[in-house]
Amino acid sequence: MNKFLITALFPALLLACAVDAPPVYKERDAPIEARVEDLLARMTVEEKVMQTVQRTYGKNMNPNNVERETRAVDPLTGSLIYRSPSPAYRNRVQREAVERSRLGIPLLFGFDVIHGFRVIFPVPLAQSCSWNVDLVRASCAVAAREAKLSGVDWTFSPMIDVARDARWGRVVEGYGEDPHANAVYGAAAVRGYQGDDLAGDHSIAACLKHYVGYSLSDGGRDYHYSDVSPQALWETFMPPYEAGVRAGAATVMSAFNDISGVPASANPYTLTTVLKQRWGHDGFVVSDWGSIQNLVPQGVAADEREACLQAFTAGVEMDMVDDIYARHLPALVEEGRVSIARLDEAVRRVLRVKFRLGLFDRPYVEELPDDERFLRPGDVALARRLAVESMVLLENKDDLLPLAAGAARRLAVIGPLARDSVALLGSWAGHGEASDACSLLDGLRARFGGEVTHARGCDHDGEDTTGFAAARRVASRADVVVLCLGERAAWSGENASRASLALPAIQERLAAEVRRAGKPVVLVVSAGRPLDLARVAPLAGAVVMIWQPGIEGGRALADILSGDENPSGRLSITFPRGAAQQPAYYNQRQPARPGSGGYQDLPAGPLYPFAHGLSYTRYEYGEIALSSDRVTRDGTITASVEVRNAGDRPGDETVFWFVSDPVASISRPVKELKHFEKRGIPAGGTRRYTFEIVPSRDLSFPGPDGLRRLEPGVFHLRVKDRVATFSLVD
Ligand code: GLC
Repeated sequence: MNKFLITALFPALLLACAVDAPPVYKERDAPIEARVEDLLARMTVEEKVMQTVQRTYGKNMNPNNVERETRAVDPLTGSLIYRSPSPAYRNRVQREAVERSRLGIPLLFGFDVIHGFRVIFPVPLAQSCSWNVDLVRASCAVAAREAKLSGVDWTFSPMIDVARDARWGRVVEGYGEDPHANAVYGAAAVRGYQGDDLAGDHSIAACLKHYVGYSLSDGGRDYHYSDVSPQALWETFMPPYEAGVRAGAATVMSAFNDISGVPASANPYTLTTVLKQRWGHDGFVVSDWGSIQNLVPQGVAADEREACLQAFTAGVEMDMVDDIYARHLPALVEEGRVSIARLDEAVRRVLRVKFRLGLFDRPYVEELPDDERFLRPGDVALARRLAVESMVLLENKDDLLPLAAGAARRLAVIGPLARDSVALLGSWAGHGEASDACSLLDGLRARFGGEVTHARGCDHDGEDTTGFAAARRVASRADVVVLCLGERAAWSGENASRASLALPAIQERLAAEVRRAGKPVVLVVSAGRPLDLARVAPLAGAVVMIWQPGIEGGRALADILSGDENPSGRLSITFPRGAAQQPAYYNQRQPARPGSGGYQDLPAGPLYPFAHGLSYTRYEYGEIALSSDRVTRDGTITASVEVRNAGDRPGDETVFWFVSDPVASISRPVKELKHFEKRGIPAGGTRRYTFEIVPSRDLSFPGPDGLRRLEPGVFHLRVKDRVATFSLVD
């Protein structure tokens, strides 16, 4: 065909191609950014605004967030909080959006998958005591699979708020008091949820929350003022978020709290300057439940329209359930107070995550029956493993534990937690069923056989002592008493702050009553926070903190008490001597007068310190060896320490490496965790643990601007009571 003819026919050819070729955004093989831009260019303002809107679907299970239940779904809606476990239900709703809307943009279904979907793992605070990062990541991958197959594409997890005030109910949801631990676990959770490919069959989008400083709520009271100094912001609360962004977290949730007066959900510095410009996060920010509307009572917005303007321009791309963006963004765009460019940027981010999830190409999930989606034996076994490794042996006087079968023919299992399976699941238990859980009593009966008697003794709280007599009778007939005390599931979690960390008085009285039977007592504590055990621990020969261990809690406890498993949990959060001693976290700044200034009416130091935990074997630590006693900025130092298992049974030992910076341009914490490693050591065996110190990462510290400073000088490396000193030289 000659050139003339081609030139003449070219427009027709182009049109012919254009008529047949689907739009770029529907092209599976087109680059995601091209698909995003193509779709964005086709959208009306209304369609764009609706992508910034999240509503709910299904029965609300969070008593703190009461809202009208939406039954009819606007097909243009960006996202739904989806509370049903049914894939078919989700597909029906998704079909509405994909087939009934002009551009067929799929919905994004989110849900709080916090420590499991149907297989409920130990609460995150418990998981962080395992120091087994691979297990934590694996548990998130299991949760992601169950969630994805049930119609959920996005979890509002991990919660990585460094928490030091045990009065705050949400301490249960994070990974303890240390910034490094929250960073490592948070990044592992992101990788567990998102897998290697966000569009994977069992991948869901993660959400780093609650960005940022939420755990500093004054007095541990939820939703209260948070005075977050710039130094604390960068030294303590930001590191887990930076690690989560580096791990590729698709989304971030802005918190309820203000940051020294500027609410986290309307804070341009954290939401845009840092998160997007400095860290390069290219996903999107969703507000917390109604946290945009909360800007009005927080006193920074005169009305909802102002709240809308502030949150949207600060960098919150999606509005969780208060419909403020739906109601006010169109007018703000019309008035030019919100630019089209800013609207496009927000919608671009939401669409990017949807494309990366593969929602445009595969908007529906396979509709498998429950027994193919949930509770696979391997997943349940993983829950048991993680529960075992999360439990912390706090006391073991005269090696009362493990209970050798012979000496513990007759067990008396007493207390309000013995049969409370709901408590084992803890808060934010997703679609977990108490009927899936093995109670402490059932777990002990299954393992110990023989004579395992039970008496409740008392309720979780209240004044009723009528059960004491039966408890004492059962105790007097037993060889050993397993006393199960602690919190109800609802006593921790959101809006569940407590002024006291003590067990309810009735439980302490039960402990004293049972002690009077004169038999050895193993105290088992289940709670979503550190408790003040100062009065009850002395009554027991052994104390085991099981937290809220999930559906396998009873079997995991039996594994530990029987010695089938050697406890390896170590505390990720300090146990203070009551609320009065808070804050008691380990990495406090070096005080002006070390060793003095404490309370006259309390012993100095916490009840159980960070990293505390006993084993059934004995570990002997060698001295720290350093590859050099000096290091340059670009150099490295390799530190190592030998640990020998001097006992007669294998065990898993975690070595914690702390760095102290005794003299710097600002006062630094007494020590900071920089590395940890858990390894198995056979009886009589030795393992050499190493830590490669990289100055820019391990010896630097952030200033109030977040920029890291690396200052020459002396540093101390600490492992247990061992100290090795070296210098950073220019
Ligand atoms: C709640 C919580 C948040 C949760 C969200 C959706 O208020 O603060 O952690 O993800 O609402 O349930």
